[in-house]
Amino acid sequence: MNNYSSHKEYFEQTYRSGSDIWSHNNYTKQFLDFAKYIPHKGTVLDLGSGRGHMSYILADLGMKVIGLDYVQELTEKNNQFVKEHEYTGRVAFKTGDILNILFQEESFDAVVDIGTLQHIHPTEWQKYSEEIFRVLKPGGFILLVELSRKTESFLSFKPVQETTGNFEYEGLLYHFFERKEIEEMFSFGFSLIKTEIHTFPEINNQSYIFSLLKKK
Ligand SMILES: C[S@@+](CC[C@H](N)C(=O)[O-])C[C@H]1O[C@@H](n2cnc3c(N)ncnc32)[C@H](O)[C@@H]1O
Repeated sequence: MNNYSSHKEYFEQTYRSGSDIWSHNNYTKQFLDFAKYIPHKGTVLDLGSGRGHMSYILADLGMKVIGLDYVQELTEKNNQFVKEHEYTGRVAFKTGDILNILFQEESFDAVVDIGTLQHIHPTEWQKYSEEIFRVLKPGGFILLVELSRKTESFLSFKPVQETTGNFEYEGLLYHFFERKEIEEMFSFGFSLIKTEIHTFPEINNQSYIFSLLKKK
């Protein structure tokens, strides 16, 4: 099942109406604990960069950041913010599909994804991981923050009791990950360095799995 167009429309409309509640999620503390393993002089690709919060945090650490998202209205707005807040040369946003990344082989030292892979259909996971492999330099890192299967309750769904971890709401797919799914998805070319699950009481006790992988 390919839900590219319906998902893109969902995200476009949600950002336009300002109901993108995930943009208020704050995982910065845990994220920084993982980001310290990434060389701070490198170039990083932020997949599904949204409003760009994490892109700016990485730039503030000294990294050069490219944020990639298919919502053009948002990448244009973000680039305006870049100009007005002295991020020029340190952060740039591009419009494009994370499953067909518009950059050449071995362009990046690291790839981060905060809450985007969880909306990619499992039939596309192979394409997703191969694209990351292609654009990462040897020894490059992936840092993922995605919904965890340990989440007890999400709307009418009980991820912890489910076998597939797939849930659909308002046309958007949510996948709640188990550690072994992430390990298996990337086992062809990456080593899993570190993984942790954190539960966030301020966002309805949702649990997220943080994973750091390194390209072999
Ligand atoms: C849940 S939001 C997370 C946004 C941001 N990382 C954050 O933490 O606020 C997922 C983002 O991925 C983008 N996205 C989803 N699928 C995509 C695709 N195939 N190509 C490019 N962007 C995509 C959406 O537009 C959205 O901005």
